[in-house]
Amino acid sequence: MASALVLVQQPAVAAEKIEFVRFPDTFKWCVATSGHQIEGNNVNSDWWRWEHSKGKIINGEMSGWATDHWNRVEEDAQLISDLNVGYYRMSVEWSRLEPRPGVFSNKALEHYRHELKELLQRGIQPMVTLNHFTLPIWVADRGGWEWDGMPEAFARYAEFVYRGLGHDVQDWITINEPMVVAAFGYIGGTFPPGKTNDGAAAVRAVEKMLRSHALAYHLLHRLAAMEKRAIRVGVAHHFRIFDPKRPLPADWLMSWVISGAFNWAFPDALKTGTLRLLIPQVVLKSFEGLKGTQDFIGVNYYTRNRVDFSSLKHTEDFQLVGEGHATTDVGWEIYPEGIYRILKSVAKRYRGLPILVTENGLADGADIRRLEFLKDHLFQLSRAVREGVPLEGYCYWSLLDNFEWTEGFEPRFGLYEVDYRTFERIPRLSARFFAHVARTGHFWYPNQSEIQLASNRSSSVPSFNALP
Ligand code: FCB
Repeated sequence: MASALVLVQQPAVAAEKIEFVRFPDTFKWCVATSGHQIEGNNVNSDWWRWEHSKGKIINGEMSGWATDHWNRVEEDAQLISDLNVGYYRMSVEWSRLEPRPGVFSNKALEHYRHELKELLQRGIQPMVTLNHFTLPIWVADRGGWEWDGMPEAFARYAEFVYRGLGHDVQDWITINEPMVVAAFGYIGGTFPPGKTNDGAAAVRAVEKMLRSHALAYHLLHRLAAMEKRAIRVGVAHHFRIFDPKRPLPADWLMSWVISGAFNWAFPDALKTGTLRLLIPQVVLKSFEGLKGTQDFIGVNYYTRNRVDFSSLKHTEDFQLVGEGHATTDVGWEIYPEGIYRILKSVAKRYRGLPILVTENGLADGADIRRLEFLKDHLFQLSRAVREGVPLEGYCYWSLLDNFEWTEGFEPRFGLYEVDYRTFERIPRLSARFFAHVARTGHFWYPNQSEIQLASNRSSSVPSFNALP
């Protein structure tokens, strides 16, 4: 409370226009995670195997116990509740639920049931992702996303999950960031299966992801309709701003081409039923049952990339940060206006569909940029909402520090810091701000005093609700 008083005593920030940013009462505040990144010991997954092969993860790190979330679901449900959010985006692990082909684990299902109960008891609605990057080893060995049997296998898995957990879940995400899987798994080679510059394989994978999504979409709706339940099914798409590096037609053209493939090809295909891809190959292909298979658009937004004519050769990371721009601990440019630009484009392109920010956040171990990042991004969201974008909610990535894929444990995205020796969760000061906004739906912008407060780290963290 003492620090809250300090806040009040701070003189108003001179010469800067301070705005009162307010979100609608119905706005959904949310935090996000994924199973493999936090649970630990996901031993039957392709990522587990990937981590155990040499040179795949920075510093040779492996997910191991991750954050030990598997054994801490009650504690973590409470942490979510302490943030005052009403929604939690999580994923269930296919390799736990179906460790061998056709052999489903009731024990794993029971575990997730328990987790959902812990959330619901605290008034938190779970939003469940069926596939967040990881595949069971037996699926990977059959060809993963390239496997012809994938759509049926995926739908069978989706059915098992729905029958076991469906009563408690209204919003479903079939696949997380399909284009990241395609780009990193088949072009850049940094994700399993580790193919490089294999455009044909990337396209095969995209096609199987579309078919898998469509089958699961219809199946989930059929199952829900039988029980007269209304559910929604969507995809969490990764959107990036691709701006030309130089004001040259060649760079502009490149950014248009890359953005078309990476940002728009997949969601467009769900809208129209036809996949149109200019890179890595020219593809024009229609899929039965695909058209209109998204009930909302999930937007994952992190950064902007500068694109020039050589960018196609750097698809493993696209990282060309413009000079003079602030970056996160992993070198991603901090570009808040990008979320506004993406939301406006999404709203225009998929008119009539509600939008959810399913991920947004930054790696910032010292927690010196997070508060400002949050304010800047939320401010951009509020601009979009004011201008009529049908944005329903916002999930911060992530609830707690976790295993960040090829980057290992170094990047720290959490509102809660994790001590990896003890697995203790320690709220960062920016978590207090987020909890304040989730509780009240408003904040003052930019209001430097709160930013100063955040950089004055104190060892004892007062109650989240202490902020005015
Ligand atoms: C997204 C992923 C998520 C996490 C964040 C930082 O692309 O969906 O799992 O790695 O990036």
